[in-house]
Amino acid sequence: MGSLHALSRSAGMLLGAVVVAAVAGSVIVNLGVTDASASLSTDEQILRGRTLVIHHACGDCHGGGGNPAAEGWLAGMMDSTLEFKMGPFKTRPRNLTPDNMTGLGRFTERQIFNAIRYGLRPGETPDVAITSMTPGQGNFPAHPKYLAPPMPWPAFRHMTDQELWDIAAYLKRGVKPVKNRVMDSEGPPDFWASAYTPDKIGSYPSPPFPTAREAAGPGK
Ligand code: HEC
Repeated sequence: MGSLHALSRSAGMLLGAVVVAAVAGSVIVNLGVTDASASLSTDEQILRGRTLVIHHACGDCHGGGGNPAAEGWLAGMMDSTLEFKMGPFKTRPRNLTPDNMTGLGRFTERQIFNAIRYGLRPGETPDVAITSMTPGQGNFPAHPKYLAPPMPWPAFRHMTDQELWDIAAYLKRGVKPVKNRVMDSEGPPDFWASAYTPDKIGSYPSPPFPTAREAAGPGK
């Protein structure tokens, strides 16, 4: 009786050991797969970024509409038809291709991320990770230099981190550089800071669902 019990116990332990080994084995296998497919996942990231750029209509303002084969795709304003009048100021969609002198070539993917998440002009904002929304804290500039409207960053900032990194990867590594110098946008001395307060553009993250204007849905 005692020895049978001991036997079943050791069988149980053996089974446990097999399970542990199998789990450990599968972890190792998964890591191996991830390593081997690193370049594949980069390609996938660029393709995801491309899709996001197309369906967020970046090309409607930055050139090319929804067609990555179009001439001037993301190359920025070429003539005054793409220029905006924001009150007394003229604003101009910039060149998003990775040209070093006239496009995003001289900026890092993190600066592009910060432009879309926080609306900060990449040419005038240091290349740092930002951890706070309060000016002067967590690397958020004390005197932020915001992108001119109608660049819709107040809406685009609600994309996930991953989506913003995907867009940055596509703009830096998935588009050919085009030389096109876009004249600087005009704007108020506070770089639109007074136009981008939470009462005007909402909060980030967005308020919890449902707000007073939303329906909680069936069963609620
Ligand atoms: C409604 C028009 C509009 C749309 C749509 C738009 N942008 Fe812009 N974008 C602008 C304008 C105008 C500027 C110039 C802002 C300035 O000069 O301060 C700009 C500037 C930028 C900049 C800063 C570039 C630099 O060199 O300073 C980035 C990055 C950018 N846009 C990315 C995007 C991406 C990515 C999308 C789509 C997800 C997009 N934009 C969609 C109008 C637009």
